[in-house]
Amino acid sequence: MTSRPLPGHPQLHYRDDALYLEDQRLSDLAREHGTPLYVYSQAAMLQALAAYQRGFAGRKVQICYAMKANSSLAVLQLFARHGCGFDIVSGGELERVIAAGGDPGKVIFSGVGKTRAEMRQALQAGIGCFNVESEAELEVLSAVAQSMGLRAPVSIRVNPNVDAKTHPYISTGLKDNKFGIAHERTVATYQRAAQLPGLRVVGIDCHIGSQITEESPYLDAMDRLLDLVQAIEAAGIAIQHLDFGGGLGIDYNGDRPPAADALWAQLLAKLDARGYGQRQLMIEPGRSLVGNAGVCLTEVLYLKPGEHKNFCIVDAAMNDLPRPAMYQAYHGIVPLEAGATGQAAQVYDVVGPICESGDWLGRERSLSVAPGDLLAVLSAGAYCSSMGSTYNTRPRPAELLVDGAGTHLIRTREGISDIYRNERLIPAKA
Ligand code: LLP
Repeated sequence: MTSRPLPGHPQLHYRDDALYLEDQRLSDLAREHGTPLYVYSQAAMLQALAAYQRGFAGRKVQICYAMKANSSLAVLQLFARHGCGFDIVSGGELERVIAAGGDPGKVIFSGVGKTRAEMRQALQAGIGCFNVESEAELEVLSAVAQSMGLRAPVSIRVNPNVDAKTHPYISTGLKDNKFGIAHERTVATYQRAAQLPGLRVVGIDCHIGSQITEESPYLDAMDRLLDLVQAIEAAGIAIQHLDFGGGLGIDYNGDRPPAADALWAQLLAKLDARGYGQRQLMIEPGRSLVGNAGVCLTEVLYLKPGEHKNFCIVDAAMNDLPRPAMYQAYHGIVPLEAGATGQAAQVYDVVGPICESGDWLGRERSLSVAPGDLLAVLSAGAYCSSMGSTYNTRPRPAELLVDGAGTHLIRTREGISDIYRNERLIPAKA
């Protein structure tokens, strides 16, 4: 038997011609559980976490997994068991953390539009910190906390105005983005926060974007953040923790992001040089912990040759894998059984059954396929299931977590009646 790894995808490899995740043959899982099917590797998730943990050895750090990347309860449970807190952006995410056994004390609450009800819910649960994104939010949070006889722990998200050099929809640290407080307003905003009776200033944070593949935007953002810490502390307000957000990219298509430990070695050297190396640190990684730990399995339904294009129509679609439609994102697509068909390779657009031209998963891919063959869409651990929908009344796929030679069914396939459970018919005509 020969084993061939897929670069950038730990735990995914061909044994002879069959694709495996850890010790599971993926075609067996597809046959047993049906398609579309998300399959995640526990070992790959823990390996990704370990790279951060190595990078921060000997430091005071809280890793808060940005659960919007993949909020399945078992994934949260796994990260909670390994010491993670969570970066949340809604009351719903907080409920998931609690349902998964996570510690609300290790939760930070980000997002530009927290409602009063969400603030109350988070205060009641005793979350670790609110990452406040506007001056208006600061006032409301103080009033809500005061009405409960509490003081809300706050960090202000600053917008360092650095270009993360990523897709515009997932770039968040530029002046014109809706996120954070302009760095010119930061000291005044901290002064206001320090006066408000319902608040307790605990930290500062920034997050400049997602799928970042270079080190320089991080280094620039860190410099700006530390300049601000200096100015805030000179104004007499103590900052306990420094939160540098998430954003580290993964290899989708030959991308070469730095490894988490290598990136942090550089960032920590800068922190040390500027005298902040012993502060409590927080980070909010999402994609880099789960993205390349997962695949979405799909079956080829039809091949449709055309004059200009050939289409490979599969049973997964933009409701299961929304990133290509939303960001023109690239996901690798590979056969589960290479060389099974004996078909000559042809160039296809791989598309789903949804009635939209935007419903494509991959463009101009060379594949040797026949109807009934199984394919894996790669890098599907992050922002796929969590961004999925039931558009076209397509039930959400099942999800499996592979652990060595064992698998856990962590989400059953949704039933059609689950989709319309909350809908009501209007009264019959008299
Ligand atoms: N912290 C905050 C405040 C965030 O807004 C985000 C992501 C993260 C942390 C985690 O970033 P990560 O480590 O995953 O890059 N749906 C898009 C990505 C949206 C990211 C939104 N914010 C995609 O599929 O590419």
